[in-house]
Amino acid sequence: PEAITVQELANRMAEKAADLVKSLFKMGMMVTINQTIDQDTAELLVEEFGHNIQRVSESDVDIDAAADVDAPETLKPRPPVVTIMGHVDHGKTSLLDALRGTDVVRGEAGGITQHIGAYQIKTKGGDLITFLDTPGHEAFTEMRMRGANVTDIVILVVAADDGIMPQTIEAINHTKAAGVPMIVAITKADKHEANPQKIRERLLEHEVIVEEMSGDVQDVEVSAKTGAGLDKLIEKILLQAELLELTANPDRAAEATVIEAKLDKGKGPLATVLVNRGTLKVGDILVVGTHSGRVRAMLDDKGRQIKEAPPALPVEVLGLGGVPMAGDTLTVVESEARAREVAAYRQEQATARRTTHAPASLENMFSALA
Ligand code: GTP
Ligand code: MG
Repeated sequence: PEAITVQELANRMAEKAADLVKSLFKMGMMVTINQTIDQDTAELLVEEFGHNIQRVSESDVDIDAAADVDAPETLKPRPPVVTIMGHVDHGKTSLLDALRGTDVVRGEAGGITQHIGAYQIKTKGGDLITFLDTPGHEAFTEMRMRGANVTDIVILVVAADDGIMPQTIEAINHTKAAGVPMIVAITKADKHEANPQKIRERLLEHEVIVEEMSGDVQDVEVSAKTGAGLDKLIEKILLQAELLELTANPDRAAEATVIEAKLDKGKGPLATVLVNRGTLKVGDILVVGTHSGRVRAMLDDKGRQIKEAPPALPVEVLGLGGVPMAGDTLTVVESEARAREVAAYRQEQATARRTTHAPASLENMFSALA
């Protein structure tokens, strides 16, 4: 029968090998960390440490976090996360800007979006909506590929004076593949050359059938310049969000997804993260990607220092040990030792993925052993 060394199993569980040896000793087995144990014993240990074999997949690197599902009674409503996608120059940033009532475009170099912006707005009715701006579709694809489903709703921006362009089509395909509901925003409706009806017709060719064409995809004509249609767009987003019944447990250790990250000369590694569940707090010890850290400070999208970040709030986090990648998971852990351990474990997995193509998850390990 096939077997695994104690050290290897400890690595896969992100536990100390010495603790495994201790447990084995209590079970009446005298083994060193380099000795092998059989599958039954390994499974016993996994249970002993409270890890769940079934739920572990390659991306669920923090085994404890992956294994616990929030009980229904802990779930509370949360704001929707809306990603704005579309072809270059079709007006994504301008639309978001108009929605925020501020001017980001002017602050951007050449008016081209360099990074994903993440913002939360409060509507007149008091509802919160989180928006993610994309400079194209790359970030969205990357995040989707890494299994981070942070987007609840996609707004497909199509300029009324242009048409369905290559990146429009790619955005449609990615949205469909992700199974995320779409709202079509036909922008630049104020322009002379605007022909919204043509856009609706051309969308049919890509199997996007909007309401006006008797389909079920919501569509709205907007102008970032005049502000026309913005209220209607917000209304449609809230309607769609209501149907999705979005919830999260805010009263637990936080889990978040990295939207963008960079190294700042003065502040060190910075990451804009979106809290998926729990509440991220200043002082929290965390693992993000292959780095550990502690939340030194948090800034909201207006640059204000905040102490706590609830689900669906995008925040910039200071205090990371390194620069993570977009799509990485940030997990709050109970101690620095644990943070270092998990970070080391993730680093090892990342190396393993680079050197061999064999997946290194518990689930795969056990199915391979069976
Ligand atoms: P990338 O991030 O580079 O892909 O572009 P984008 O989709 O974010 O487009 P952006 O918002 O930067 O707008 C591109 C150009 O279209 C700018 O010159 C805007 O002023 C103009 N524009 C955007 N929305 C409108 C609109 O509703 N009406 C008019 N007339 N012009 C608009
Ligand atoms: Mg832009």
